[in-house]
Amino acid sequence: MYNILAGQRGVAVQTYKLNNGLEIPAVGFGTWQTPAGEVTVKSVREALRVGYTHIDTAAAYENEASVGKAIRESGLPREKLFITTKLWNSDRGYDRTLAAFDWSLKELKLDYLDLYLIHWPDAKDKEKNISSWQALERLCKEGRVKTIGVSNFKQQHLQPLLDAAEIKPAVNQIEYHPGFRQPELVDFCRQNDILIEAWSPLGSGRILQDKNLQAIAQKYNKSVAQICLRWCLQNGTLPLPKSVTPARIKENYQVCDFVIAAEDLQFIDALPEFGWSGLNPDSVPF
Ligand SMILES: NC(=O)c1ccc[n+]([C@@H]2O[C@H](COP(=O)([O-])OP(=O)(O)OC[C@H]3O[C@@H](n4cnc5c(N)ncnc54)[C@H](OP(=O)(O)O)[C@@H]3O)[C@@H](O)[C@H]2O)c1
Repeated sequence: MYNILAGQRGVAVQTYKLNNGLEIPAVGFGTWQTPAGEVTVKSVREALRVGYTHIDTAAAYENEASVGKAIRESGLPREKLFITTKLWNSDRGYDRTLAAFDWSLKELKLDYLDLYLIHWPDAKDKEKNISSWQALERLCKEGRVKTIGVSNFKQQHLQPLLDAAEIKPAVNQIEYHPGFRQPELVDFCRQNDILIEAWSPLGSGRILQDKNLQAIAQKYNKSVAQICLRWCLQNGTLPLPKSVTPARIKENYQVCDFVIAAEDLQFIDALPEFGWSGLNPDSVPF
């Protein structure tokens, strides 16, 4: 999985292969904190216009209906798109998960999802994670979602799920960016054939003023955002940049026409921790 995109100058963003054999576009478009209504519709439509085919939303973002509207307005065939949404924490458990999935599909006005994720683990109740997961497995077997996965699961949340699962999670969506790369968790997921999706690949904007990253960006004649996204890809992770700004939406998709040299990748890997969101899955207050 490493460096699959390296050296492919000028080509469109490629795909990763998931543990169920399906392909997932290697850069997704994030929509957290994008307000529902015109802002979401316009930014998702713009993303689809410039070439993204992979959109990441969540019930908790309260913009699924607007994401769905943008998808319909794009005129793109459904099968060319990869749409992810997520189960919110208040809907954990078997029956509530099934109902929440129905709700999300209705909001999006879609008849299937490409990827459905448990948004956060229940850090205190592993049985709750397992019963939610069993509902996801049912949805997958029924063909209502093609791939299922988790988000913000650390090793101690994932292992009980892996022990109980009939279908293994294909994806773990975690915070991952220069200055916060959770190497042990990433290795654990790799050993279990789980793709890492990188949330906040730009540190929600917090890391873009970093002097070290700025120096590397200058060396490659790229923006700091492009360096962060390319670094994610060359480390075998799938970044989900968010923007509501057309020029940035385009810039964030243009990350396949250059290669970061090994010594610069290692330099970024070795940066001391900075830019962390402060959201620890074991203690988030939601
Ligand atoms: N599973 C989870 O728990 C979880 C948690 C957080 C995020 N996520 C997912 O990951 C996605 C990305 O994370 P994120 O929204 O935290 O932030 P991000 O993509 O790391 O950063 C977005 C911020 O950077 C700015 N930005 C974007 N492109 C830029 C560029 N080229 N140059 C300068 N500034 C730029 C954006 O501003 P403008 O929008 O104003 O352009 C916005 O303020 C989310 O949208 C969501 O889909 C998931």
